[in-house]
Amino acid sequence: MNWTEKYRPSSLKEVIGNKAAKEALLKWAKEWQEGKPSKKAAILYGKPGVGKTTSAYALARDFGWEVIELNASDERNREIIKKIALTGAIHEVLSIDGKYITSKEGARKLIILDEADNLYEKQGDYGGKKAIVETIKVTKQPIILIANDYYNLIKGSGAELRRLCLSIEFKKVSSREIAALLKRICQKEGIVADPIVLNEIARRCDGDVRSAINDLQSIAYEKKITREMLAYLGYRDREREIFMGIRNILKAREMRTAIREAWRMDESPDNLILWIDENLPAEYKHIEDLARAYEFLSRADVFLGRVWRRQYYGLWSYATELMTGGVAVAKRHEYRGFTAYHFPAWLRSMAASKQYRNVRQSIARKIGRVMHCSSRKAMEMLPEIKKLFANDDLAARLAAKFEFSEEELEFIVGEKAREIFKEAEKLRKMKEQAVLFNFK
Ligand SMILES: Nc1ncnc2c1ncn2[C@@H]1O[C@H](COP(=O)(O)OP(=O)(O)O)[C@@H](O)[C@H]1O
Ligand SMILES: [Mg+2]
Repeated sequence: MNWTEKYRPSSLKEVIGNKAAKEALLKWAKEWQEGKPSKKAAILYGKPGVGKTTSAYALARDFGWEVIELNASDERNREIIKKIALTGAIHEVLSIDGKYITSKEGARKLIILDEADNLYEKQGDYGGKKAIVETIKVTKQPIILIANDYYNLIKGSGAELRRLCLSIEFKKVSSREIAALLKRICQKEGIVADPIVLNEIARRCDGDVRSAINDLQSIAYEKKITREMLAYLGYRDREREIFMGIRNILKAREMRTAIREAWRMDESPDNLILWIDENLPAEYKHIEDLARAYEFLSRADVFLGRVWRRQYYGLWSYATELMTGGVAVAKRHEYRGFTAYHFPAWLRSMAASKQYRNVRQSIARKIGRVMHCSSRKAMEMLPEIKKLFANDDLAARLAAKFEFSEEELEFIVGEKAREIFKEAEKLRKMKEQAVLFNFK
């Protein structure tokens, strides 16, 4: 289980840092409880991972309020926001699927609008911010808006929000407090951790509690955390850098912006294509955009295949431009807001062991050379090819054809590698002689 979920505070008391913000939030909730709030809605804003969403839910729990969460970036939910606005005074509240929820006597329902800065508005769009403003004016229930980017929220038609809402800033959490939290988590998990490592994680995360907890979990695969594991954190930094690059590529509006980003990232096109492939569907929500983008990606893949086959690395730049610039301009819609990107599943399994990775890669290269396909495609075929090796006779011939080493064979067939390798050697010699004497 993800530790950020496991250790998500359920009460405001457990939320670390942000003393002033918590007090303001409590005061506002008490006003609502007494039925005379000075502002009907509150905006919680600040950097990611500092406890905004957590605090909103914890507050509801502390006060025994029900929670209705609406996601502002979802088109469907904008309709619901509009509906809430139009139904006027909200004694009863619409649930996410449009049903009314009847309230317990006197119990409040806290409406939480997370990622409120994600609303993007076309001209004449009465969803979005305008609907929120209207909703706040008429609501009989407390509303919390959450945003990373305050200024994006209150600009344009959001200007009124500033007047209508209580704005509460969530600040970065101090490294001292984060280190103390990490220590508590280690104790609960029965982990013995070198305090230097915990301090270092807390320092690196730059006030972002979520990423600190994630970092801790990523190195806590044993019950002991030692100083050597700091090296792995460096690797995590690199990962973060790649996420940023992927974000800039997928969000780019111009070809050259995306291509420039690719050069800056300095990631091999073979890896880059995996990153883009894995994360495209998370970013491009419209199916036509996705289809066009994958068209570019498949062309890039063709070029990568040619690079391998011809060993001509000059083609790399075409592949790179197609997979970054091409993909970037394939979208006709704008996708604002935060997308959680993923580490390519395939790369992650490879990175687990360098030795393993090298063997796999050379196998893929050899298969690709014979089958005229990219290493990546070859990797996809590997499970099928493995099945062919179940037949001993065929196995030797295949091993000779692909020119697998004994080590590579071991990866494919396990214990029988030696035997098959010897057999394949014989076949290879026979073939050489056949060529020598010009036999067919
Ligand atoms: N101030 C905090 N105190 C304790 N845990 C926190 C805090 N901020 C973040 N976390 C941890 O990080 C996770 C994500 O926090 P979240 O509230 O979603 O951040 P935000 O909404 O500000 O991006 C939580 O589940 C919790 O584990
Ligand atoms: Mg949040």
